[in-house]
Amino acid sequence: MTEKLLTPISSSLQGELHVPGDKSISHRAIIFGSLASGTTKVTHFLDGEDCLRTIAAFQAMGVNIEKQGQTVLIDGKGVKELKEPLEPINLGNSGTTARLLLGVLAGLPYHFTLYGDESLTKRPMDRIAVPLKQMGAVIDGRENGKYLPISVRGGNLKSISFETPVKSAQVKSGVLLAGLMADGWTTVTEKTTTRDHTENMLEAFGGKIKKQSGTITIEGKQSLIGTDIHVPGDISSAAFFLIAAAIVPGSSLTLKDVGLNPTRTGILDVLHAMGAAIQVVEERTIGGEPVGSITVSYSPVKGIDINGEIIPRIIDEIPIIALLATQAEGETIIRDAEELRYKETDRIESVVQTLKAIGADIEGTKDGMIIKGNSSIDGGVADSFGDHRIGMMIAVASLISSQPITLKNPGCIAISYPEFFSDLKKIIVE
Ligand code: S3P
Repeated sequence: MTEKLLTPISSSLQGELHVPGDKSISHRAIIFGSLASGTTKVTHFLDGEDCLRTIAAFQAMGVNIEKQGQTVLIDGKGVKELKEPLEPINLGNSGTTARLLLGVLAGLPYHFTLYGDESLTKRPMDRIAVPLKQMGAVIDGRENGKYLPISVRGGNLKSISFETPVKSAQVKSGVLLAGLMADGWTTVTEKTTTRDHTENMLEAFGGKIKKQSGTITIEGKQSLIGTDIHVPGDISSAAFFLIAAAIVPGSSLTLKDVGLNPTRTGILDVLHAMGAAIQVVEERTIGGEPVGSITVSYSPVKGIDINGEIIPRIIDEIPIIALLATQAEGETIIRDAEELRYKETDRIESVVQTLKAIGADIEGTKDGMIIKGNSSIDGGVADSFGDHRIGMMIAVASLISSQPITLKNPGCIAISYPEFFSDLKKIIVE
């Protein structure tokens, strides 16, 4: 087990930063590029461990994928040329690879075995296995197919109409990808809108999809054509610096070229509602996704209630929002976020335990947390529990801590942001 000593800063955060490519979009670029015919060039690809798992999975199926830093070239030959892998596929820590890949594999007439690390092995897969079985895939795994390791025998899928019981873009995307491999039209209905990068990217690859107030319909057996994808900066990674600048006195920071897809920008709404000094400039569209630069300056913030429709739009940002809430005037109450329990860790438990360990006043509830504001961060020992977003939240907390924080298990940060500590260093004014 490794540790990293994080020391408080006596200065502020200043300047500009380009955060790495969006994790969700990077995964999908590899998936669609591998299903399409022709070359796909992905630029500003997220060179993080999770996305590398998606590349390795398609390489195992015979796709020629070459990566040089943040540029990836995929020599797509179409679905029919995908091969049966010789060995089980290791998904590491990546829930997105697991749920989306299952959708693809369900449509292929081969046998697959999937496994993951300790965390992924505990995360529910029945949410995607159940609809895929309805479509005709043969899927089994530990505890009646609920958990990895999972085996799939795919092929001959029929289309379904599926209403997602969980607010999950991963489940929606997995079913849509299976729908793409099936005969006929597959419909997915979601009660609460989740991120729509799968739908957008299908269109970028020449596919057709119908979207009508929460119902998405995809025609099966469409041929996709390789294309160039430029991945915008990940707003979920930018969130750590947005909040760092909001809580470190005297700071002013601009995050450049960040993805501003409305299904992802709940963090900006939360910052506005809490009274943070934030501004979005240079808005434009790149490759079908809105992009812009976000400037944040330090200012006092107030506690708010966060619940309902916004939750899927901030689902990955809640750990860092919890830290912001510890610094606000008054109480913040987060509800309707039970999905946090099924992330890389049970993020209600891990956020509460870590923030408590370093001096915050926070309590977990069934579906969220109650955070008292005006709390001092006192330092101490805090564990990431192997969860990248918890690790980065602790690193941001250390900036305003009265004493150093020893972060246990910092290595997991490479899952979504390998350059996190060097980027942080760039913006600390000495
Ligand atoms: C993701 C969707 C979200 C998110 C995850 C990435 C995606 O998960 O937490 O980091 O790329 O579709 P759920 O859709 O399961 O909530």
